[in-house]
Amino acid sequence: MSPERPRILVVDDDPVACELLREVFEREGFVVKCELSGEAALAVMGEFRPEVVVSDIRMKSREDGLNLLDHVRREYPETPVILMTAFGSIETAVRAVKEGAFDYVSKPFKMDVIVATVRRALSARDRAQTETPPSEAEEVGSVAGLVGRNPQMLEIYKTIARVSDARAAVLITGESGTGKELIARAIHAHGRRHGEPFVAVNCGALTETLLESELFGHVKGSFTGAIANKRGIFEQAGGGTIFLDEIGETSPALQVRLLRVLQEREVVPVGGSAPVDVRARVIAASNADLESLCSRGEFRRDLLYRLNVINIHLPPLRERRDDIPLLVAHLLRKHAPEDLPPPAVEEEALARLVGHSWPGNIRELENVIERAITLNHAGRITPADLPPSVMNDGPERSPAARAGGASPGCLFEDILTLDEVERRHLLRVLEVTGGNKKRAAEMMGINRRTLYRMAERFGIEL
Ligand SMILES: Nc1ncnc2c1ncn2[C@@H]1O[C@H](COP(=O)(O)OP(=O)(O)OP(=O)(O)O)[C@@H](O)[C@H]1O
Ligand SMILES: [Mg+2]
Repeated sequence: MSPERPRILVVDDDPVACELLREVFEREGFVVKCELSGEAALAVMGEFRPEVVVSDIRMKSREDGLNLLDHVRREYPETPVILMTAFGSIETAVRAVKEGAFDYVSKPFKMDVIVATVRRALSARDRAQTETPPSEAEEVGSVAGLVGRNPQMLEIYKTIARVSDARAAVLITGESGTGKELIARAIHAHGRRHGEPFVAVNCGALTETLLESELFGHVKGSFTGAIANKRGIFEQAGGGTIFLDEIGETSPALQVRLLRVLQEREVVPVGGSAPVDVRARVIAASNADLESLCSRGEFRRDLLYRLNVINIHLPPLRERRDDIPLLVAHLLRKHAPEDLPPPAVEEEALARLVGHSWPGNIRELENVIERAITLNHAGRITPADLPPSVMNDGPERSPAARAGGASPGCLFEDILTLDEVERRHLLRVLEVTGGNKKRAAEMMGINRRTLYRMAERFGIEL
């Protein structure tokens, strides 16, 4: 049991931050000791015997907090360590959690958040007194390209770290372009399966027969065109990860088969009789609301339960605008020609980017940045390099105007025929999706055939 007044060791090279935390924790009735470096903290551990350590990650040497964590885990394995950082990234979050930090909080945090975290650590410590310490920490690779420090994203990074080694199914939900596939790849790359294949399959893009034989494989001669035995994706993935993208688009018959695979963890190839063991972990993704598909009877609830053991929901970009400048910098580096430094972004242009509502999320942002890199002169991105969709949308415009036009209450400046509204809307959606027909159709809530017919009617080339 924790003593009446738990002892907390605070480690931060910023004396102001130390004193602030001292004040907060003392008010909670804790006994507090502050140290300004990892070494100093280690030196007092034996004598002070804190119940919880709260440490900054970046102190004088870059990752002092992680070193401290490492020492504490080895020498005082029963003492939970909470790490704090102002530089949240997936790498540090994953390392911190995987190397055994009790939790990871990003600065600036609310004082009640840190106090609640310390209290959770205290009660977990009490519970853990009888349990065995966690096993050896594992080396963690990093996934290039996952950017964002918004608190919602940091929570997602922590979830990635916690679930990457498990075999439980993960369902990633979120609007189109929010990074679902990237997250699936991050889960795979951070887990012990990373040496095995990651196999992605788009459930919406294949016909039912094709999808069945893609997933489960087929035996030579089982249908016209099956000229040889084919290993299905479940088999190809081995002990790796199978990523079922757009799971909401699978047909009812296939849903039944998938459910059986997940229950029995074996597949029978089309036309075959011998079952093959499934060792792969399943990660599914959907931008449709599966819950409402279930209520409409279009998706099996039992399959949803099987897939949704762990849910990761990605927020739309408009709900984490604070990440936009970071993402812009990242995408500029990603797409700038190799021999040139990435262009600078003028303040006004950045303000427009931050203010836009991004219906196509990060994918739309990426298209806009690629376009701006092509258009800009003299290595500076100005508002003129941004598309009209971004320029006509922003914080200084009224909500009515933001809906798409200039005068309040009206979608476009003049009264237009419905045809013209439709034509402009189609152009806008194509712009937002970077010409991706499948996404454009999804965004407009029509099927691809209707999209083609519509484009043809307006003489728009797809
Ligand atoms: N956090 C992020 N940091 C950097 N790039 C990102 C991030 N999230 C997404 N992206 C980039 O945005 C693009 C879209 O991401 P992704 O394909 O993973 O989205 P999605 O949710 O699967 O979209 P859809 O539903 O349309 O299939 C990719 O080019 C990806 O690299
Ligand atoms: Mg995707």
